[in-house]
Amino acid sequence: MATSELVQRIRELQDLLQRASVAYYALDAPFMEDGVYDRLYRELLDLEARHPDLVTPDSPTQRVGEKPVEKFESVRHRIPLFSLDNAFNGEELQDWEAKLLRVLGLNSDQNTLEYVCELKIDGSALALTYADGIFTRGVTRGDGQAGEEITQNVRTIRSVPLRLSAENPPPVLEIRGEVYLADAEFERINREREAAGDPPFANPRNCAAGTLRQLDSRIVADRKLSFFAYTVHFPEGWQGGDLPKTQWEALELLRSLGFAVNPNRKLCTSLAEVQAYFDEWDDRRRPLPYQTDGVVVKVNSFAVQQESGFTQKAPRWAIALKYPAEEMPTRILNIQASVGRTGAITPVAELEPVQLAGTTVSRASLHNADRLNALDVHIGDTAIVRKAGEIIPEIVSVLAELRLQGAERYHLPSHCPECETEVVRPAGEAITRCPNPVCPARVRGQIEHWASRNALDIEGLGQSLVEQLTRTGLVKSVADLYRLQVEDLVGLERMGQKSSRNLVEAIAKSKQQPWHRLLYGLGIPLVGTVNAKTLTQHFSDAAKLQQATPDGIAAIYGMGQEIGQAIATWMADPAHQELLSQLRELGLQLSAVESEASTLPAVFVGKTFVITGTLPGRSRPQMKEWIELRGGKVTGSVSQKTDYVVVGADAGSKLAKAEQLGVTTLDEAGVEELAAVLAR
Ligand code: IVH
Repeated sequence: MATSELVQRIRELQDLLQRASVAYYALDAPFMEDGVYDRLYRELLDLEARHPDLVTPDSPTQRVGEKPVEKFESVRHRIPLFSLDNAFNGEELQDWEAKLLRVLGLNSDQNTLEYVCELKIDGSALALTYADGIFTRGVTRGDGQAGEEITQNVRTIRSVPLRLSAENPPPVLEIRGEVYLADAEFERINREREAAGDPPFANPRNCAAGTLRQLDSRIVADRKLSFFAYTVHFPEGWQGGDLPKTQWEALELLRSLGFAVNPNRKLCTSLAEVQAYFDEWDDRRRPLPYQTDGVVVKVNSFAVQQESGFTQKAPRWAIALKYPAEEMPTRILNIQASVGRTGAITPVAELEPVQLAGTTVSRASLHNADRLNALDVHIGDTAIVRKAGEIIPEIVSVLAELRLQGAERYHLPSHCPECETEVVRPAGEAITRCPNPVCPARVRGQIEHWASRNALDIEGLGQSLVEQLTRTGLVKSVADLYRLQVEDLVGLERMGQKSSRNLVEAIAKSKQQPWHRLLYGLGIPLVGTVNAKTLTQHFSDAAKLQQATPDGIAAIYGMGQEIGQAIATWMADPAHQELLSQLRELGLQLSAVESEASTLPAVFVGKTFVITGTLPGRSRPQMKEWIELRGGKVTGSVSQKTDYVVVGADAGSKLAKAEQLGVTTLDEAGVEELAAVLAR
């Protein structure tokens, strides 16, 4: 490629990737598969590595710093970061409004105030500076007057744009908002910490705050923080366009600049509406994938905000209406060790039932042996239980002062409560396991997982049936499910002719489920639904995944060493290899099915390809046909007119020629991803 084309390609890639990020994080309307993002990202990395002079700080590749910082600098906020006053009920909310009206010199019958209700995100406040539209500085709240400069860490947060989507940005713009950690990410981090023997974080907020203060931004990048923007400060006297006059307009503006803004907000014209919104969201917030602890109510008009001003620590024009705490004391009646599908033994407390976060809680996790020790749990103790949103209830502390005399300290059993095999706890790991691969509890767990909604989704195959099928020896592995006959089932509890036939049919139907669901259903450690999808985009067949090296898997965007290792270890087990080959024989989908030729989008029209070397998945004629079906042209030699060279193993002179002419080279997966991205 000539230099000018190269510069253009780099800019194009930077732009496309930035737009993809905004679409994904700010607009919640992704238009690019993770795998494609990864591919284009690597192309950009590669081009930038060869032309370091073309790397700019706002390039999507510049999110993770090379080396840790020694310490954070303290910097003063240009505008102090105020906190909010709290109201815990309707009465306190009304008191707040009454005081506000007094300050504004209004009678209640002159009250035409509008309020914006926003969900209060339970994270850490953050101030971001953009100079001429480019992200230059991120500072924590600190004491409100001065905070710590954590720019390098903030750069790793993908919902923080490195460049604003604005034609004419002001010389400085300050954006404020909340950094938070999604529940699923928090749980993943804690699982990994526990597996590594590190103490878990108490809640997503602590984890987010701790992560922001990590000196090594590579660790921060690994824990996927998120950001919702809620405030924008223009420089005084800025004349470069229409400035927002209300909080509502400010939120819209933030969105158009490329920030993620929480979509759950409402413009209210009375406190009654505010109260209704607060009540409505007490339930609705629970399924949200992050933690919220209230509703922030703000006067909409900036002119009125200006007029009402601030108290010592908080604006008069805003208040946090908080939901009640979700912790309660209750008694631990008993503790049982439960065995999961991976053999992990988890102590579970049986509690005197208690109302918490809108549900009755009667069980709570005690996680592992270290946690038991740290909490010093005795049977009969009074404990503080917490339920936060969708997170499984857990015990946060016990009140030792209330312990009954003679109460016994609880220890994890030395033998599996299911199969009596001696349990193991490898050095350095937090989890105690039953090592017996055919432990009935593990087998039951695997089958339940296989049948679950996000996996093979087998209707009618619930816990009690799985228990019967395994106890009677009818099913010893998920493959056995596909060998069940109606007559095997008739006679099991609550199973007549009809329900047995339905189950056999539901199991047979699950053979059509796509490869990514099956991969998830296998229950490989660290392979959840999202990772399973990413993996199947790169490995269109189980055989390819079986051959992949840990490094090869780790290199895929979003994967990493641990996942690479976990998959390779799982695949190396002969029992698992046997299971995969049985599933294949039984007719399950262990590879991605290609769509019908007639419906293929003509994405390669006008593009010329050359294929060279041995490809992993297709012969050269197959690849040629694959490209031609999508409208592309395949020729035999590389020239200036060639758009892409598809390169396999042992490629020779054609690859050299492509490099000499600067023609883009792709491997087989790269062509597939290119087709996918062009199809949008
Ligand atoms: S406005 C002067 N809006 O809650 C305006 N804060 O308890 C102050 N918070 O320090 C902030 N969601 O960290 C605002 N939608 C939201 C918020 C929000 C969460 C946090 C923020 C603030 C704390 C006050």
